[in-house]
Amino acid sequence: MQVPLLDLKAQYAVIKGEILAAVSEVLETQRCIGGPKIDELEEKIAAISDCKFAVGVSSGTDAILNSLMSLEIGSGDEVITTPFTFFSTVGCIARMGAKPVFVDIDPQTCNIDPAQIETAVTNKTRAIMPVHLFGQMADMDPIMEIANKRNLVVIEDAAQSITSTYKGKKAGSIGAVGCFSFFPSKNLGGIGDGGMVVTNDERLYKRLVMMRNHGQNPKYYYKYVGGNFRLDPIQAVALLVKLPHLDRWSQTRRRNADYYNRKFAATPVTTPYVNPDCVSIYNQYVIRVPKRDEVVAHLKKNNIGCEIYYPLPMHLQECFAYLGYKRGDLPQAEKAANEVMAIPVYPELTDEMKDYVAETILKFLR
Ligand SMILES: Cc1ncc(COP(=O)(O)O)c(C=O)c1O
Repeated sequence: MQVPLLDLKAQYAVIKGEILAAVSEVLETQRCIGGPKIDELEEKIAAISDCKFAVGVSSGTDAILNSLMSLEIGSGDEVITTPFTFFSTVGCIARMGAKPVFVDIDPQTCNIDPAQIETAVTNKTRAIMPVHLFGQMADMDPIMEIANKRNLVVIEDAAQSITSTYKGKKAGSIGAVGCFSFFPSKNLGGIGDGGMVVTNDERLYKRLVMMRNHGQNPKYYYKYVGGNFRLDPIQAVALLVKLPHLDRWSQTRRRNADYYNRKFAATPVTTPYVNPDCVSIYNQYVIRVPKRDEVVAHLKKNNIGCEIYYPLPMHLQECFAYLGYKRGDLPQAEKAANEVMAIPVYPELTDEMKDYVAETILKFLR
């Protein structure tokens, strides 16, 4: 049996007719930049995120970059974030000329540990950027409490967690802005790159809209130095086809996670911890196992897709050496990097496939 980490062909088989028709319509009209489909997607993503405004952008990375630019965060500023994330979170802070300041993770959720944030705040701190990793939101109440007390802005990197909740509140709706990615492997993934920023702040919304189009308003008059961060209508129509399926896909991922949780109960496999305040959308199902690298090799040999998110925390990356962190500085992130592995959790998995994945791991560890 073969079980890939993700099977987008299985998803496509179900919606192929609709996707082809929607893409064909864009091509027939040749409305290839902007237009009503972008507006429609923005309205719908704002609605499912319980936010007033949404701005379609070219990727999750550009959602973060646009947010930082629109919030005027740059040289001389510090942004507190987690070292255990995809590169974009930190790369965007650095590209703005701001300084990433890392706070270690909570070993249970792998999200930023709010208890360690306050000591990292200095008079240069402008923002906190929690990342809602693997589909589960960070512990937002204490983060917002510190932010409000110290007058800091909160940017939610919700790239992996669209529609997930914390105390009933949607990802992206708690901070000043929320950033989503439509990278194809996300629960709501496009047919290429795409992203979105959501906010409840009208002034910020207007700035985000200008900034994604070079900072211009009106045409050929530039209020800010922005970029080309526009979302393609081809992506928007594909995402509109997929959107009605999103809740069911996330529910099925949760059911798959429950299945694995039962299978791995009372075994050496540590299953993902979900904070009782959160509903995870399980963009990834990430376990911890002894002899992780051997388990990964064994799964690959048995045609099972798996991946290590992430093998090296951001504070130890070569490009961030100038920040001066060293091994041992953020022990929980470093430990997680050595122990975690993601196994297939996508909605189209059959019971036989899940069983094969779980049994292959358990047999190896016995
Ligand atoms: C946590 C996190 N932040 C940011 C991004 C960047 O999104 P994109 O790949 O769409 O640029 C991703 C996606 O890969 C992500 O997982």
